[in-house]
Amino acid sequence: MSDPRPIGFFDSGVGGLTVLREAQRRLPGESTIYIGDSARHPYGTRSDAEVLDYAIELADALVARDVKAIVIACNTATSVALAHLRQRHPAIPFIGVVRPGAAAAVLATRTGRIGVIATEATVRSGAYFAAIKDQNPAVQVEARAASALVPLIEAGDLSSPQLVEAVRSTLATFKGLPAAAKIDTLLLGCTHFPLIRNLIASELGESIAVVDSAAAAAATLQEVISVNHLDAPGSTRGTAADPGAAGHSAPARAEVLPVHQLFTTGAVAGFSGLADRLFGDRVMEVEQISVRR
Ligand code: DGL
Repeated sequence: MSDPRPIGFFDSGVGGLTVLREAQRRLPGESTIYIGDSARHPYGTRSDAEVLDYAIELADALVARDVKAIVIACNTATSVALAHLRQRHPAIPFIGVVRPGAAAAVLATRTGRIGVIATEATVRSGAYFAAIKDQNPAVQVEARAASALVPLIEAGDLSSPQLVEAVRSTLATFKGLPAAAKIDTLLLGCTHFPLIRNLIASELGESIAVVDSAAAAAATLQEVISVNHLDAPGSTRGTAADPGAAGHSAPARAEVLPVHQLFTTGAVAGFSGLADRLFGDRVMEVEQISVRR
């Protein structure tokens, strides 16, 4: 059985492109539709009611485009809206980024002390604290809001002195922890942050591992597509129960050309600039769509 419909993704802006990139790497035969809500960005300093409202509108827009699954490529929207969206569209599998990120961080830590940087709304929701504790209740979690970094990154700033200073002051609180409370793993709990991963890692130093949810969420998506027999025609990899003709670990083959659509609710130029940097020579056309303001 196969399903040629696209997979939907949404974020408040460009951050979720980090998740889209990983998903396209793992599932090269799948078509995708991505919506970045740059016109109403940032989400992380808004109320839960506003984030929920926007998330509903974007999920509905993807469902109207007949997607077969939706990745909420935004930690803020995942924290606030995942449960609601699953109930609103019970036939659509929704994949959030919080649980995969938490699982990756718990696997990475050796000392059992994980730091999380995320938006104010994500930290306020306690979603990472709960997800990490669900994985291993003995792990200590130090979560810090870092909303100030988000608008800079969304504007395409990946290296200015202002950004470096903002990263330094965000990380200072982890560096200042007493020896017994020092973290050994920092989880990037906002999909904008992998865009400045190198800067964060170099400010932290080598003794702290930096983990994000993009690769883990893409792996979860791959599993959800596979076990539910939603693979695009010609791209099946089989499952643990049914290894398929080529075997479970064989690379997916793309026999039908996938179609990728990128939409922004904001200005196309800024969005394309970052998409080009991320996707390199694979040209991704960006179109504008409108939303309620
Ligand atoms: N990229 C988003 C996240 O993962 C949201 C950033 C924002 O809009 O504040 O939380």
